[in-house]
Order: sequence, then structure tokens, then C-alpha cells
Amino acid sequence: QNPPPLRGKRILVTAGPTHEPIDPVRYIANRSSGKQGFAIAGALAALGADVTLVAGPVALATPPGVRRVNVETAREMAEAAEAALPVDAAVMVAAVADWRAEATTQKIKKDKGGLEALPLVENPDILATLSKSPKRPGLVIGFAAETETVVEHAKAKLARKGCDWIVANDVSGDVMGGARNRIHIVRADGVEDWPDMEKDAVARRLAQRIADELTD
Ligand code: C5P
Repeated sequence: QNPPPLRGKRILVTAGPTHEPIDPVRYIANRSSGKQGFAIAGALAALGADVTLVAGPVALATPPGVRRVNVETAREMAEAAEAALPVDAAVMVAAVADWRAEATTQKIKKDKGGLEALPLVENPDILATLSKSPKRPGLVIGFAAETETVVEHAKAKLARKGCDWIVANDVSGDVMGGARNRIHIVRADGVEDWPDMEKDAVARRLAQRIADELTD
């Protein structure tokens, strides 16, 4: 029998949302469930890859054979991703919060004037940083959740982020938290449109595409 196609390949996957604290009891979050990223990590491991999954706060089981690093904030995710290098490929599925608040150490009290403003500062862009890094993996894949003109936005994102592929999905329906996904793989040389599939099936097919790319 043939060895699994991704044996000996190190792959970084980020998944889930990030939580950005406002004070000790409150945070900014988003609707990412982590399902697609966890499924991709599992599918890559099933093909023999040595997978590090940097996971935001989600209550999902770690897929078999995957090394999981739990983080909460975007800055923690950036650090954990950096620490996982070098890798052969990176699949950045996480819905990283674009902004964070300057969190206070004490709970903000409503009766003491409360929150008049919540100044936000931009988080590091983990995907863009990785794409420019001297330790850039040979294959860098970003995700794009869009609600309109999905492929056009993804093409712009590909150039802006400096990654090799953008996996674009239309989240105008119930993709976030749902079990199904319809994706487009956008590369500099073309676009692949995949049919609507279970997230697990998307993950298996994407893992196979990655294996083909890394073993060419
Ligand atoms: O810019 P946008 O958030 O739409 O880009 C999405 C892609 O960029 C995803 O692959 C996501 O994981 C990655 N990203 C990141 N760090 C950020 C924001 C997005 O790695 N701060």
C-alpha cells in the first residue's frame, strides 16, 4: 500500500473566531463556529500530515492526530502561528477579529458613566504577515467570507494578502454555524467553483488538492 500522501508534511491551520476582551467579563466576538477549519485540520491529518491547529475559543473536539493550540485573542493567535513555523503549508481559516479594544482591568460599571466610547485598534493580519515572512510556507491559503460579489472580492484579497489561494465562500445564507459550504478556489491563474457540499466533504477534497499541490 502507498504511504499517505501528506506524510512528512507540516501544516498549520488556524480556525474559529477570536475573542477580544473589553473588560474582565465582556468581549468582542464573531459568528465563526470553527467547523470548517477543524474539518480541514482533520482531513489533512487523515492524509498523513503533521498538523498544528491554532484554535480560537470553540467547543469542538480535536480531530484525531492533530496537535491543538488554544488561543483567545488575535494577538495570541499570531504568536501561536509564528511558533508553529516552519511549515510546508498554512491554511488560515480563522475568522480573526479585525479590531480589539484597549481592555480595562476592572469591569466597566453602568452606574459610573459606563461606556461612552469603545476605541478600537487594528489587530495584526496573521495571513498577510505570514505571506511576507522570510519563513513563508511554500503554499499559503487564505479564506474569505463574503456576502456579495464573492469571487471579485476574493481576487482583490489574494493580491492584497499575498497568499497563493483564497478559498472564498458566500456567507449570506446559513454557512456560519451550518453544516454545508459552497466554495470557490481563487488563484492568480484561475478560479475553481465547487458545488454546495457538506463541510466535511469540502475539507476532504481541499486536503486532497493540497496534497496534489505539495507532492507535484
Ligand atoms: O481580510 P479578511 O479578514 O476578510 O481576510 C480573511 C483571511 O485573512 C482569512 O484567511 C483569515 O484567517 C485571515 N486573517 C488573518 N488575520 C487577520 C484577519 C484575517 O489571518 N487579522
